[in-house]
Amino acid sequence: MDLYGALRPLIFRFDPETAHNLAFWLGERLCAWPRLPEPAHPAALHRSAFGLDFPTPLGLAAGLDKGATLLPLWKALGFGHVEIGTVTPRPQPGNPRPRLFRFPQAGLILNRMGFNSEGAEVVARRLQSRPAGLIVGGNLGKNKETPEGQALEDYRAAYRLIAPVVDYVALNVSSPNTPGLRNLQAPEALKPLLAGMLDLRRELGLERQPLLLKLAPDLAPEDLDAIVEVAVAAGISGLIATNTTLDRGIVAEPLRALVETKGAGGLSGVPLKAKAREVRRRLLHALRGRLPLVACGGLGTAEDVHDALDDGAALAQIYSALIFQGPGLIRRMEQGLVAMAARTRT
Ligand SMILES: Cc1cc2nc3c(=O)[nH]c(=O)nc-3n(C[C@H](O)[C@H](O)[C@H](O)COP(=O)(O)O)c2cc1C
Repeated sequence: MDLYGALRPLIFRFDPETAHNLAFWLGERLCAWPRLPEPAHPAALHRSAFGLDFPTPLGLAAGLDKGATLLPLWKALGFGHVEIGTVTPRPQPGNPRPRLFRFPQAGLILNRMGFNSEGAEVVARRLQSRPAGLIVGGNLGKNKETPEGQALEDYRAAYRLIAPVVDYVALNVSSPNTPGLRNLQAPEALKPLLAGMLDLRRELGLERQPLLLKLAPDLAPEDLDAIVEVAVAAGISGLIATNTTLDRGIVAEPLRALVETKGAGGLSGVPLKAKAREVRRRLLHALRGRLPLVACGGLGTAEDVHDALDDGAALAQIYSALIFQGPGLIRRMEQGLVAMAARTRT
């Protein structure tokens, strides 16, 4: 067992958000340390996607480092890219606590954070000093009180501040914890949203910067096909699939009953794996290579990542597995991927 495995029972005695805040307190101190390790990624793992060069396909999914406070640490842990956010244009507190629940027996997380965000101005300022050699994506959302009809203005306001200080931007239209947000995935809402964002990208002279769209796993197969056509026709750079699910059916009884007592929110981690993969395969089939796809959802082993890349994903993002398996996970995954690549070569 590694150190994290030994400490986990103690860490998990804290309420999840308190543990998160303690970890970030410690992480900020580690980031100030001048001798953080500089992982060297094997050349076999390098990936190019949407015009960017990634040292490894492994990235940190959005939602863990919402304010871009721990970038040097993520780099030291072996991530090739980090998606910061979701960042909303104006600061907002998110939902009342408790809003984060973990179920270690199943590798499952339930969250209804609701975009707690320091706001785009503060996060953009912090991003002005970033570690070299780490790709940073900015995941953008709308403020809760902004009416659905004015969502585009929120995404544009956040984009103006964040886009100039990141390598790519992801539009989050798939969080289940902001009322109405997922309605933006409907083709008739998505078309003007993407067009408005691409216009702004041009206005700001950022045409070469990738713009991605992050999708929910709770869409019907025909909706996924329709979204792909809208995304390709609009000319965005890629898709990220998936966000958390509202589907309690992914959790087996008796745990499901316990999860239901905790109330609303999105589910992530091991139980999401199969559903997220199914959605990705449908998207990849519909995409026919026209746009790259970033895999996310339930990836917790090198095999999971290998499968996702084998399915055709360009990159892979991880969140929940890091909470359950600890900071050594990314290095272990990388070693596993290298070993698997060597096996397929022989
Ligand atoms: C506590 C928590 C907060 C999250 N916050 C965000 C967010 O702000 N924006 C976003 O796009 N995704 C967010 N996500 C979703 C993750 O980025 C990811 O899509 C999802 O958890 C599935 O991956 P996983 O199974 O590896 O965790 C959040 C997930 C968790 C567990």
